[in-house]
Amino acid sequence: MRKKVIAGNWKMNKTASEAEAFIKEVAPLVKGAGCTVVACVPFTDLAAAVKAAKRTNIKIGAQNLHYEKSGAFTGEVSADMLLDLGVKYVIIGHSERRQYFGETDETVNLKLKAALAAGLSPIVCVGELLSEREDGVTPEVLRRQVKIAFKDVSADEAKKVIIAYEPVWAIGTGKTATSDQADEACKTIRDCVAVLFGKSTASKIIIQYGGSMNAKNAADLLKKPNVDGGLIGGASLKSADFAAIVEAAR
Ligand code: PGA
Repeated sequence: MRKKVIAGNWKMNKTASEAEAFIKEVAPLVKGAGCTVVACVPFTDLAAAVKAAKRTNIKIGAQNLHYEKSGAFTGEVSADMLLDLGVKYVIIGHSERRQYFGETDETVNLKLKAALAAGLSPIVCVGELLSEREDGVTPEVLRRQVKIAFKDVSADEAKKVIIAYEPVWAIGTGKTATSDQADEACKTIRDCVAVLFGKSTASKIIIQYGGSMNAKNAADLLKKPNVDGGLIGGASLKSADFAAIVEAAR
């Protein structure tokens, strides 16, 4: 049995003081969760969020990292810097990073290896564009993204990775994949992991769905056999909605 992981992706929302207040508000609502609860917050909120989440079951994640350990990379943040703050998770290769900040499957691979080497739990995002879905190449796109992301990663390390299937056309659009579409894509990803690392790793790896998941549609998506949780943007910014999704993962 895989324990579900519900992770909020706040994107570029909330100041550090707002983050602190929000975590204090949401903590009692998710106290008895039957799943792992994560909040991936902006860099500037991390310290306040880690502090506010102490003695709660909420784990804090970042939304990006750089793959080098240190050096002349103005504006960037390394895995060790995150770890030192008490950060446990990090989102890698979100489609907004791929779309607006030039991230590629290759940089996703470098970042994944850096996160694993530091002992962070990576949440690697993959997903097809609308045009790719319409052209019927979704499975090929997902397999390419997964294969390159996991290049030179061992099976032992692969087990520690969370993969988020996020169809780009469903992110922030209010257009959710149907639960069957989500399950099918998550299964494609799991089958690809089985080819790369064997059936045992594939049966253990957590594969989330992300893209307009909300309090209303979460239960339907989360009951699918290959959907092990959610990466939630918009609905993670409201405590009642986020708590309802955590509850739906039970
Ligand atoms: P959304 O975002 O829930 O607002 O669609 C999901 C994500 O981008 O991770």
